[in-house]
Amino acid sequence: MSEARETAPAPGEDAGADGAQTVRVDLGARSYDIRVGAGLMAGAGAAVKPFAGGRRVIVVSDETVGDLHLDMLAASLSAAGVGGEAVVMPPGEETKSFRALEGLMDRLFEIGVERRTLLIALGGGVIGDLAGFAAATALRGVDFVQIPTTLLAQVDSSVGGKTGINVAAGKNLVGAFHQPRLVLADVETLDTLPRRDFLAGYAEVVKYGAIDDRPFFEWLETNGAALIDGDQDLRREAVAHCCRAKARIVAQDEREGGVRALLNLGHTFGHALEGAVGYGDALLHGEAVAIGMALAFRLSARLGLCPAAQADRLIAHLDAVGLPTRPDQVPGADFEVDDLIRRMGADKKVKDGKLTFILARGIGESFITQEVEADALRAFMAEALAS
Ligand code: NAD
Ligand code: GLY
Repeated sequence: MSEARETAPAPGEDAGADGAQTVRVDLGARSYDIRVGAGLMAGAGAAVKPFAGGRRVIVVSDETVGDLHLDMLAASLSAAGVGGEAVVMPPGEETKSFRALEGLMDRLFEIGVERRTLLIALGGGVIGDLAGFAAATALRGVDFVQIPTTLLAQVDSSVGGKTGINVAAGKNLVGAFHQPRLVLADVETLDTLPRRDFLAGYAEVVKYGAIDDRPFFEWLETNGAALIDGDQDLRREAVAHCCRAKARIVAQDEREGGVRALLNLGHTFGHALEGAVGYGDALLHGEAVAIGMALAFRLSARLGLCPAAQADRLIAHLDAVGLPTRPDQVPGADFEVDDLIRRMGADKKVKDGKLTFILARGIGESFITQEVEADALRAFMAEALAS
């Protein structure tokens, strides 16, 4: 990523005088900007105003983020002459449910949501996915803006328009593609994020290096610890770099017909682990992705696709920063091979009855495959759960 520092911004990106960067997601009529910077919340009202069209906005947040950041957003909206209401949901993955969606929808209609009302999702991936899905479906679709406040949401979930909720059969199985009109990623909001949640988001940062960007992975090996410890310039640089990567992929393949599936590195394993422990504090989504990436690289090495040293190197970095890389690191979990394989089979990445995996030939050389034999997978999982 030192490369990113030295390279002139690509078309559609610019570094403003305040050091904020703009990344364009090019999707024709659904194109939008991602603004990445420190202290953007103070100007959020002015940034959002053009999308509010003179009407009141509805901010959706969770209790934790609401307590920490809603006053600042409300003050900024009010300073820009934008009136609004807030709906505050309980925090946590359980809020990505039908029950919570129903509660949110009831509140939106009590407030008087209209076709031209703008929703603002202020929070992590849970609020972004839930409020985004509400925006996609209320009155058959209203506009929304993402103000992501976790590292995971800033580098991944707020960008690209995937919205949705979890159901008993699996994670994110009910949802819609609905692009936001604007994303404001204020890295200062990450100062209040607990270290465990920050680390979980860092797994998604590493994912970009592991997929197709070896120089970025090497940059993370050098700078990851300082970034995690709070260096704001490094955080801004990493978030902007990941947003550029995601914007490029989404612009090529908005609806995941092909290359976008690479962003699911670690997710076939990760979603199965998350489902098995019941979506909650025992295993955060980013932690599941970290274990899932480690398993994807180990499986790649086991199948002779990737040098074992490459898998070891990826896992060493995840270990070094304090992320879990093995299923037995999930507290209290008692995973079973059959259960995990059944859960993988319920994932939406299954195509013609075959599981889709993102495997790798090395760090930065990931690829999509449906060619993992059932017996090889079973033997690998048995070994992974025994270690
Ligand atoms: P989250 O939204 O649950 O946030 C984690 C915790 O941090 C919550 O308790 C929240 O209240 C708290 N929090 C958020 N911002 C904070 C802040 N600035 N200071 C203090 N506390 C703060 O979880 P997440 O990790 O952001 O997102 C995970 C979700 O994102 C999962 O449901 C996952 O499926 C989804 N996701 C979606 C996509 C997508 O493309 N739509 C991509 C990746 C992940
Ligand atoms: N997080 C995976 C995607 O947006 O496609």
